[in-house]
This record gives sequence, structure tokens and C-alpha cells, in this order.
Amino acid sequence: MDTTHSFRMDEPVGETRLDQGVQNVIGKGVDRFEGPLKVSGRAPYAYEHLHGRNVAFGFLVLSTIGAGKVKSIDTMRAQSTAGVLTVVVDKRGPRAAADPSDPAPTPAGGEVTHYGQPLCLVVAESFEVARDAAKLVDVEYETEDGRYDPIALQDEAYDPGPGTIPSVTKKGDFDAAFAEAEVKLDETYTTPSQSHSAMEPHAAVASWDDGKLTLYGCYQLVSTNVGQLAKALGISKSKIRILAPYIGGGFGGKLGIGPEAVFASIAAMETGRPVKIALTRQQVYQTTSRRSDTIQRVRLGATRDGRITAIGHDTITSNTPGDEFFEPAGISTMFLYGGENRLITHRKTDVNILLSSSMRAPGEAVGMLALENAMDEMAEKLGLDPIEFRKRNEPEVDPQEGLPFSSRKLVECMDVGAERFGWNTRNAVPGSRREGEWLIGIGMATASRKNLLQQSSARVTLSPEGHASVETNMTDIGTGTYTILQQITAEMLGLPLEHVTVKLGDSDDPDAPGSGGSWGANSAGSSVYVACEGVVEAIAKKLGVKVDDLTLKDGTAIAGNRRTGLAEILAGEAITVTGTFKPGKAFKETHQASYGAHFCEVAVNAYTGETRVRRLLTVGAAGRILNEKTARSQCYGGQIFGIGTALTEELVVDKRTGLMVNHDLAEYHVPVNADVPQLDVVLLEERDHAASPLAGKGIGELAISGVGAAVTNAIYNACGVRVRDYPMTLDKVLKGLPRQSVAQAAE
Ligand code: MOS
Repeated sequence: MDTTHSFRMDEPVGETRLDQGVQNVIGKGVDRFEGPLKVSGRAPYAYEHLHGRNVAFGFLVLSTIGAGKVKSIDTMRAQSTAGVLTVVVDKRGPRAAADPSDPAPTPAGGEVTHYGQPLCLVVAESFEVARDAAKLVDVEYETEDGRYDPIALQDEAYDPGPGTIPSVTKKGDFDAAFAEAEVKLDETYTTPSQSHSAMEPHAAVASWDDGKLTLYGCYQLVSTNVGQLAKALGISKSKIRILAPYIGGGFGGKLGIGPEAVFASIAAMETGRPVKIALTRQQVYQTTSRRSDTIQRVRLGATRDGRITAIGHDTITSNTPGDEFFEPAGISTMFLYGGENRLITHRKTDVNILLSSSMRAPGEAVGMLALENAMDEMAEKLGLDPIEFRKRNEPEVDPQEGLPFSSRKLVECMDVGAERFGWNTRNAVPGSRREGEWLIGIGMATASRKNLLQQSSARVTLSPEGHASVETNMTDIGTGTYTILQQITAEMLGLPLEHVTVKLGDSDDPDAPGSGGSWGANSAGSSVYVACEGVVEAIAKKLGVKVDDLTLKDGTAIAGNRRTGLAEILAGEAITVTGTFKPGKAFKETHQASYGAHFCEVAVNAYTGETRVRRLLTVGAAGRILNEKTARSQCYGGQIFGIGTALTEELVVDKRTGLMVNHDLAEYHVPVNADVPQLDVVLLEERDHAASPLAGKGIGELAISGVGAAVTNAIYNACGVRVRDYPMTLDKVLKGLPRQSVAQAAE
């Protein structure tokens, strides 16, 4: 039996089989079943596929100027190197469409728009030969003056028009209200470009068989990526199959099809052999994409008793010319705090720097650095505790559109966190706690991340033996998708976990929206839920009972006082249901977001300005938690990301050429073990019945949002230095350290 089952969510979904929890697996901290495969090297990543087949290896040649034109590419010396098969020159200059909002690889027509732009591919019998010959490709350029300094160019920023959010949102009369406000804050914060720095460098393996292309890649959105690749190659989607079963981290850096996929596909066609390309670590930094740098001006106006009357957030970000994406840094400011008069704007500067695109919590991750820092500064101006200030501005409904919140536990997150962390021990006077040469401070900030739900499909098959298999082109980028889809299926169909298998990342399977924007678990999970509902209906029908009277547990069906094994009910015939979930009115008519609160304790060295994070607590509320362990791990990841954002991470652009100076993990400083204390995460019980049939909301990007501000607010509390230029490297802190704190520490 093979049917389809579709559900558009126009109303909240009440209690479901997941709430009954008869099988008792949903929400449990189940280990990721692919974990042992990964740590023992049996989970193949993109580059490892087709090993042993007559594979050729490609190495990309990248531009060594940041702006201008390619006059000529002479491949003679490279071509004549022993072992070189061909050099693929793509005149269109394919580049990464690194964001779903970006239409596809853009033909650049011989123009160089940034340093590290892929120009051609040397294909050889071995990786080493290809890499060596790549150095023999002679490129002649016509160099032009580039635009490499977003800060210097900020006056040229323009309104880019609507992106993932409108570029401008207004309510009331901001200017008048701000002018009249009793207490005002007007500060500007800057954040640098960042690199996703996923563990697995981007890689692609292409192979043509009978006019059909198979591409093994590490892309987050295979259903979208097939279309992007088809467009880049000028062929039909039906001729392409992308496989991405295991992905070594993405963080947004693998949302779009990359140049390695396009070049590998062309090279495989030209050579008639499978072609492998892996970017070197340096190439990943230089040629994939980055998080936008930002200049953010936050203006807050409030009454003397701390009610916000005017809230303004103006952001300038940069991107390559012609690219539409802008970092929606004002997104949280749109809904986090009340205030009648609001103005949130985004402008963009064209620069000749690597494409900027989505990186974990695009918008919130950097926008909340500015907003939550400003809230801390304003609380001090008002003489209010930062938590009390936020509570006084807790809105009843979404303050911009007036929509009801589907669920919102922001205040509870702050209260639970304050209690657990010992917030009441905080002395609001900076520099008042000292341990030898260390100045100790604590700070807090909130977290929020919009809930983004997408249409999704999945196929669930219940075999005659009563085992279930799930197939969808959803991906797992290390987040635990395999396991949560297994848990949802097991709970819905009453099966032991080990009787459920999940297959992901094959573009030939039903379309899911992939891993991005924290929508993955909810969207793909909901389609699995819908498919399972179809399977349950089919079982009920076979038994001649109502769905509501049917209990499924341990591979048996219980109805009335009869218990029947699934194998007996199925009588040799499998049940296959393809489920499609569509967000409907329930999504449109409520404002949906996940919330949290971060609490941080730091020690700042009074002599060197070095900051050590001592304690970090995040309390989050994101609807139903599908797997306590994987959800918690997502929060740990976000917290660590936030420590890096606050203290160390920064892509340094050479202002003469657009070169990323610190293009490897030795020089681009992500936090390492020694930088990270024992992390604490609390996830509150919550069900959001308007958000999805699972009653869950996004969590993958929640914990990074705001955490950097908790760190820098703690630094301020420790030593009185308010650096508004992220990251807070020790030189910046040291410059602001009051002399007496050094003297005191020396006593
Ligand atoms: Mo996410 S930055 O949409 O992978």
C-alpha cells in the first residue's frame, strides 16, 4: 500500500501520540546512532566516496587580486605537467551561492569581485600533482582599485530592499519619541566578519554515468542545491542526484552549492572520470563565504522609571556587488522589547570582499551583541537591574505587528537563570570584586531566535516484519537529525528505536528543506509525523478500529482488549506513506520565536586585559525538546560560538587586496578547550502547539544568540571597560582599564 498524506497547519495542534509517549522515547537523550560510525571512520564524508574507482583529482586556482578583470589564463605549463589530465577554465567564474536567498552561482563574466575567487581547476592523477600544477597556471589580470574597508566606506551604504526581512520597519514616530525621551542611549557597535570554520572542509565528488550526474557533497540543503547545480551547469534537475549522507558541520557555510561542485561536475564530464575536489583549509576561509561585518547604531529612549518609548537599530553590513543578502541584524529588535515608537533599518555597502552570507543565527547572532549590550548600558543609566529593566519592557504581543506570541518564556528563562546562577550576588558597581590580579564580574543577556518553519516531505515505510524506514532528503550536519527522526517515528508507530532506520541526504528522496535557520528538526520532523499519522490510519483501518482507540507499543497494536503483532496485521504487505507538512495560518497568525537567557562570569586580568570565562549558563525555551542530549549539545555549541564571538573570532581583511590574512585555524581563533569552562544548560518545559505538530520550535541557533553580549556585559561588570568593537581582545580591554584597578590588583 502506497499513499500520500498532506497536512497544512492552519490551527494549533492539540495533544498527540507524542504527548502520550507510550513508547517513551520522544524527548529522551538518546545517543546519535551514527556516532560510533563517525568515530570509527565508517561514516563516509563527501570526499571519501568512490574511493578506488578510477578517480581524478581537482585543485582550484583562485584569483590573487581582489578587484579587476582576468585578462588571460595561460594553462600551457600546467597542462604539460606529467599526470595532469586537463585544466577546466570556466569563463563564467562560478562562485558559491552560499545562501538560499541567493538565486544561484552568478556568472561574473571575467570580473574578479573578491580575492580568492575560483578561476579554473587543474585535474590530475593525484591531488599532489593537481596542487603542484595549479601553481603553474599563469593568470594575467587588469587590477582595479578595490573596496576593501567597510568602515571607511560606510557613508556609501544604501538601502538594499527587502531580504530575509524588510530592510526598514517602522512604527509610531521614532525621531520625535527619541528626542523627547527622559533617558537616552545612543551608541554604535561594530562586529567583524567571521568564518564558519566547520571541521570538514568543503568537498565534492562528481561522476557521470549514462548522462546522469551523481554528486557527493557536503551541502546543507540538497533539495535546493540540486536546482542550483542544474542552473550552473545548464542542465535539467532530473539529471542530477546529490548525496550528502554525512556532513562535518555547516553553520551556514554549506547552505549553497559551491564552486567545487560546479567544477567537479564539469571536469568529470570532460575527463569521463569521477573527479574529486576538496578545498584546503585556506581555500575554505578565502573562497566560500563569511558572516557579514556590521556597524550597528542602537538608540534607546525611556522614561525615568525604565519604560522604553523609542527603540532604534540601524545596521550597515557589507557584501560583494550584486549580491542581495544582508545580515538582518535588527531582527530581534523587532520583537524582543516593547516600545511604541520603533525604527529598524538595514543598509549595505558594496565591497570586494568574500561573499557574505548566513552563518549560525544570521541576524540575531550579531544583532543581539549590539542590542543586549545597549540594554545593559541603558539599565545602568536608569539605575535598574538589567533583568528588571527587561521585565519592565516585556511586551504582551509582538510590538511591531501586534500578533500574539505562540509561546514566550523569556521572563521565566531570566528568573530560572538568575536563581541558578546566583545573580543576586552581583554588585552593580564595576570593578568591585577582585581576586588577586583578576577582576571578577558577572553579566547577563537574553537570547531569541525567530522560528522559521518550512514545507517538508518524508516517506515512511512499515515493512511486513514491522520495521520502519524513513526516507527524506533532509540532512544531518552533526545536529542529530537522524536520531530525532528515528525517535519521532518510533514514538508514533510504537516501535523500539532499533526497528527504525533513517536515510537522509539523497536528493532523489522526498523534498525536505534541509538544515538551515533552525527549521530542520521541526519541519522535517513534522513531515515524518504526518507520514506516521498516515501509517497509523492504515493500521487502524486494517484492524477495523478508530485511530483514537488504537495504541501502538513495542511492535504491537492494542485496541479494545486485543493485542496484535504488527507482522500479523500487515500480513506480508508493507505500508508506505509519503507525508507532506505545510506551515499554514497557525504560523502566519502568531509570532513565533525561541527564547533564552545567558549568565556569564568572567575574570579579567588587571595587568594584561585577558578575559577568562569562568562560568556560563544558558536557560532556553524552545517548545518540545525532541532529544534532550542533542538539544543540549546544540546549546553547548552556541555558547562556545558565543565565547569566540565575544573574545577572539575575527576575519582580518588586508585593506590593500581583500585577502583574508588569518585564513586558517591557527590564526582564526575559535575557542579551544582551554577557553571554555564547564558549561551549564537548562531547557525549560514548554509546548508550543501553534508552532508545529511536534509542539517544538527551533533550537540550533538559539544559544549563540546573545551569548557574546553576556560575556562582554560581564567584562564591564568586572572592570568597567565597555568595548563596543567586537571581539573584546585583550588589547582593547587593557586600553580601557582604569589605572586604579591595576594599582589595586598590584597591592
Ligand atoms: Mo544556518 S546559518 O541557516 O545554516
